[in-house]
Amino acid sequence: GRFNGSSCLFDEFEPISGVYWCKGEAGEKSEEVNITVSDKEVILEIPALPVRTGSDVTLRCKNKIGGTAAAYFYFNGRPVGPKSEKNITINVQQSDEGLYWCAPDEFGSSPQSFLRVRGQNTDITSCLKPIC
Ligand SMILES: *[C@@H]1O[C@H](CO)[C@@H](O)[C@H](O)[C@H]1NC(C)=O
Ligand SMILES: *[C@@H]1O[C@H](CO)[C@@H](O)[C@H](O)[C@H]1NC(C)=O
Ligand SMILES: *[C@@H]1O[C@H](CO)[C@@H](O)[C@H](O)[C@H]1NC(C)=O
Repeated sequence: GRFNGSSCLFDEFEPISGVYWCKGEAGEKSEEVNITVSDKEVILEIPALPVRTGSDVTLRCKNKIGGTAAAYFYFNGRPVGPKSEKNITINVQQSDEGLYWCAPDEFGSSPQSFLRVRGQNTDITSCLKPIC
């Protein structure tokens, strides 16, 4: 990518899937985040950075034009809830860490995304702010 101040910019059509992190000037390292570029019909909207236990996280299934599709949500291979929903909100516990994806009623499914969970007392030092 290209540097611009403290940001790193990628061109829209570069294949940039992978694990990213950044380092501060003193050598301190941020969290690692997975960024997956996909041309699937839907993607799961989910926090890229770790979330703390006790916080609320809302997941949505987004289509290519940015709309929200009613979908079934899956966690580690099992459906979350009995019917399709426009979103689900989880009050996060440590046991919610794992792989999520969504599958709309009409077509296909999203790529899988990993939700990381941190305890209340763990320090998160992070300078990485992905724009998703
Ligand atoms: C780079 O940063 C400057 C100042 O923050 C901003 O005005 C400019 O639009 C940025 N360039 C790109 C390509 O984002
Ligand atoms: C990135 O994704 C891969 C494959 O799903 C997984 O094995 C790895 O633990 C993830 N790393 C992070 C930092 O989320
Ligand atoms: C979730 O979807 C319902 C409609 O199904 C909507 O009323 C609600 O505002 C949404 N919640 C969030 C947090 O987006």
